[in-house]
Amino acid sequence: MALYKILVVDNDKSMAEVIASSIESEDYEVMKAHSGAEAVALIARARPDLVVTDLKMSDIDGIGVLKEAKKIDPDVVVVIVTAFASIQTAINAMKEGAYDYVIKPFKLDELRIVVSRGLDLRMIKAENVSLKKELERQYGLENIIGKSREMERLFETIRKVSEVDTTVMITGESGTGKELVARAIHYNSPRRGSQFVAVNCGALPEGILESELFGHVKGAYTGAVSTKAGLFQEADHGTLFLDEIGITTPAIQVSLLRVLQDREIRMVGDTKSVRVDVRIIAATNEDLEAKVKAGAFREDLYYRLTVIPIEIPPLRRRRDDIPLLIRHIVGKLAVRTGMVKTVSDEAAELLCRYNWPGNVRELENVIEGAVSLTPSATIYPRDLPERVRNYAPDREDGAGQKTLGEFMSLVEKRHIESVLKEVDGNKKLAAEVLQISLASLYRKIDELGIGGQ
Ligand SMILES: Nc1ncnc2c1ncn2[C@@H]1O[C@H](COP(=O)(O)OP(=O)(O)OP(=O)(O)O)[C@@H](O)[C@H]1O
Ligand SMILES: [Mg+2]
Repeated sequence: MALYKILVVDNDKSMAEVIASSIESEDYEVMKAHSGAEAVALIARARPDLVVTDLKMSDIDGIGVLKEAKKIDPDVVVVIVTAFASIQTAINAMKEGAYDYVIKPFKLDELRIVVSRGLDLRMIKAENVSLKKELERQYGLENIIGKSREMERLFETIRKVSEVDTTVMITGESGTGKELVARAIHYNSPRRGSQFVAVNCGALPEGILESELFGHVKGAYTGAVSTKAGLFQEADHGTLFLDEIGITTPAIQVSLLRVLQDREIRMVGDTKSVRVDVRIIAATNEDLEAKVKAGAFREDLYYRLTVIPIEIPPLRRRRDDIPLLIRHIVGKLAVRTGMVKTVSDEAAELLCRYNWPGNVRELENVIEGAVSLTPSATIYPRDLPERVRNYAPDREDGAGQKTLGEFMSLVEKRHIESVLKEVDGNKKLAAEVLQISLASLYRKIDELGIGGQ
């Protein structure tokens, strides 16, 4: 099947025929029209990728065909064929969006090259559009999973924040989805047509980070062999995501403050400043306010960055979202690996109970590990890591919301566990240490669920 459709338009039938047969190939399906009106009708109906049109025609001329064609499909590539006498009109046609022109008499090879380049351009444009759509889809709000009240509130904030152009500070434990949220804000904002650039401030030493962020001019330091633009310039008109902002040094903090105040950057080694239009979204998993109080982070920068704060709650505080996330993650893995698995109720229950210090990322890793290690189609508790299987929920959070009885049992359980550990699981010895009968110890082990699965 031909890859592209091309339309050749010329009043002169034999001329149209010559052009058409010279560009026709396995990849190009060529149609012909012998008047401007016929051409416009055919463009609307057959949607060619490229139109080669003569400039001078009796009814609608080449410029008219060009204008109509662009109305029908703004990305259609139009090549004008013109006599030398009308070259100025052909140049004007370029301003109207024509891709190129060829002057009569021309070599057929010359036209073929122009056509093939024009189609390359069309393909690149189409790929860019689909790539952007793919990114928008991938980072759209619907890819942030959650139905808990906390997440609903988060969605609401993301929507609002996307419309305005202010600085945002995202806080949350590791793996809660800070980068995911930052991308969602960018791809929902009017800046979505430009770049989202992410930089991990904690991963780079000060000098390198500075040069990464602001760029450097040739000779700024040993090794700066050529001028290189920084991430601020790369993110111009887009969004710069400053991850782990809390780890930045005082010097970097000063530079960032300057950008936020003046909307200008100065490349390392340069004497002039350049204007940049960048939205900043910062993120941290530290308690930045505490750092400010302790004098470890500039207060003025903190306030500039935290115009709108977004806090992503840890996964253990929104356990309602876990079943949804499990489904989402299993689905994503099925697409990637071709292995469709289900999670048994027992395994799901364990996943909902665990406290997830590594949040959604940890959940992803656990499910991915189980999916790739288990030959069966269902994931059972035995396929989960020990820390998830043996997790005792009482030990961690929520300790403040227990009845006295529950709390006493918890203390009892912990103490028995630690004694058992000390005596290497010797129950007789443990009963002696605890000064209870062996039978009572067995009963307690059973009741309190000690050492069980
Ligand atoms: N609500 C969510 N819905 C779907 N996927 C999520 C959600 N939250 C996080 N994830 C996924 O979890 C992983 C970790 O998310 P992300 O990298 O955004 O976290 P982070 O907060 O930036 O973590 P870190 O502090 O470790 O950099 C990613 O693969 C992301 O797609
Ligand atoms: Mg991150």
